[in-house]
Amino acid sequence: MDWLSTLRARCALLSVLLLAAPTLHAAAPSPLAVEEAALIEQGRKIYVQGQLVDGRALKAARASGERLQGVEAACISCHRASGMGSVEGNLRVAPISGRFLFAQPGDMPLANADGIRGKSLSQAHAPYTDEALARVLGTGVNINGRALSVLMPHFDLAAQDLRALKAYLSVLSRDYSVGVGKELIQFATVITPEVSAARRSIFKNMLQSAVLVKNTSTSPRQRYMTSAASFVTQSERRWEVEVWELSGAPSTWEAQLAARYAAKPVFALLSGLSDSSWAPVDAFCTSRHIPCWFPSGRAPALAEQGFGLYFNQGVVLDAQVLSVHLQEQPAMLQGRLTQLFVPGSAGAAAASAFSVAMVGAKFQPVDVALQGATDSRLAATLKNAGPQDAVVLWLGPEPLLPLFNASPAPQARVYLASPLWADADLARIPQPWRAQVQLVYPYELPQPRQANLAYLHAWLKLRDLPLVDEVLQSELFFSLNLMTDTLQDMIDNLFRDYLIERTEDNIGKRETSKAEQENRDRKALGRAARGAVMTQTSGAVMEAVNAQAAQQRAFALGESFGTTVYPKLTLGPGQHFASRGAYVLSLEAFLSGAGDGDAAAPEAAAWIVP
Ligand code: HEC
Repeated sequence: MDWLSTLRARCALLSVLLLAAPTLHAAAPSPLAVEEAALIEQGRKIYVQGQLVDGRALKAARASGERLQGVEAACISCHRASGMGSVEGNLRVAPISGRFLFAQPGDMPLANADGIRGKSLSQAHAPYTDEALARVLGTGVNINGRALSVLMPHFDLAAQDLRALKAYLSVLSRDYSVGVGKELIQFATVITPEVSAARRSIFKNMLQSAVLVKNTSTSPRQRYMTSAASFVTQSERRWEVEVWELSGAPSTWEAQLAARYAAKPVFALLSGLSDSSWAPVDAFCTSRHIPCWFPSGRAPALAEQGFGLYFNQGVVLDAQVLSVHLQEQPAMLQGRLTQLFVPGSAGAAAASAFSVAMVGAKFQPVDVALQGATDSRLAATLKNAGPQDAVVLWLGPEPLLPLFNASPAPQARVYLASPLWADADLARIPQPWRAQVQLVYPYELPQPRQANLAYLHAWLKLRDLPLVDEVLQSELFFSLNLMTDTLQDMIDNLFRDYLIERTEDNIGKRETSKAEQENRDRKALGRAARGAVMTQTSGAVMEAVNAQAAQQRAFALGESFGTTVYPKLTLGPGQHFASRGAYVLSLEAFLSGAGDGDAAAPEAAAWIVP
């Protein structure tokens, strides 16, 4: 047996050593297996940290003479954590995981780095031998004798480094991730306890319906709707999505999740819904390297690290945008600045982010932490605030709508964070208050949004599902579709790191190409289809729009640039918030459909990226 097959023969044991809890396996590992695990760990340090076996920094040079060292030279910076490579402009960074480097004749691994432009990263070279690996790393000439792009550096590696690297590459992205079977991918979706019964049921109904559609249209060995590559490799899989509904205090959620996961290990958390806190779920995902895939809800998202991909940073983003707005528009605030919130709510997280963002600004917010919704300081603060003052209400329609209805409009400018509201509730704010209310609005404005969402509206109609909460439903729809498309593009390379990397690289391109496709479809379908879409979407906000203008706009449902309630979603390597800004605009402008490029709009809204 050569060195490589010896290693492969021990793969099972190695996985046990590397991944599983030692207590589960009573038998002591053989000394040889321990030695190989150590070798793989040394290889990992070269790959990830740029640290050689003897502890010195990895050194590399480009043909141009440029020198790289340590982390800069580490393979991970170009070939990514999964080893599956990527496409950068016209350059393909080859996959170098074991299966792609060392594959034996007869096994031709397929990979597609850019599904939209059809760039292939499938293996196109002979299997690497030890000598060929040493040569390509030392001189940049690959196994087929091709001189590689100057971007691939030349490395100064000792024999022990080569051995360690090879051991690591052989096991890198070798086995499917947890939760992936030959014909099935196991997912879970998490709902936290405070989510209202209404939102919970919209979410669950739509999820169920979408998974059913997915499983009946793309299942193992069914040609219908699968891509050619996934058909050839039979990589299309059925989905199973468990709904994990949490209960009790947030401090107990991580243990609940761990128990569910132990009973049913999942590949990823697919969407999810929380209106209070997502931190324990994110921590659970990060500690186990489980992708936490575009959940919905009003909970603030967390720092941009770990294994979560999010639409945006939730109310923390709103707080930062408001801070920029107030500092850039000094006319908006000349007196006192007060912020009100209920401790422990999503609004409280926004309030503390706002205080941080306002450090060093001319006005500092004064906090009023309300003792529940009936605290009399809420009405008193609004009543006593003067025309020079601003009051930030990190609160939702409950308790504000009853209060607005019962009291005269304030003199001060009032700021609301729209993610704590449904659009329909914003339209119920009584007339006298409207002139005073400003919104922080992290979504696309209602009019252009209709173009983005035309497809979702049609999808819901076809399935007899009501449009109740446009933000939630659009987010869930996107989350599920993006997973379907991304898995299809990954072909049979179903690794968690790769899922995240591909999404970072492709989400922006996918948004653009989907929006273009939908624009073309709408044009082709013509007036009739556009009219039909409009009658579908007559929600409360649309009703507030003058009927004639609405009809004109219906025919001109302009170009869309995205497919969600957000103007456009993009990511880059290491970025986990796909939308990074918000509008600040008056409630009046919002209700009259501002921001659609219509010159008659009362106030142009600016998209602020903090
Ligand atoms: C600065 C970016 C960069 C770094 C760092 C880098 N590579 Fe590469 N590598 C590339 C590019 C780009 C290619 C593809 C070049 C081509 O196809 O012409 C490549 C190709 C390769 C190939 C050839 C695969 C084939 O198709 O024949 C191997 C093997 C390889 N890299 C291994 C490594 C290893 C191991 C490391 C770390 C010790 C590393 N690379 C670090 C950019 C990089």
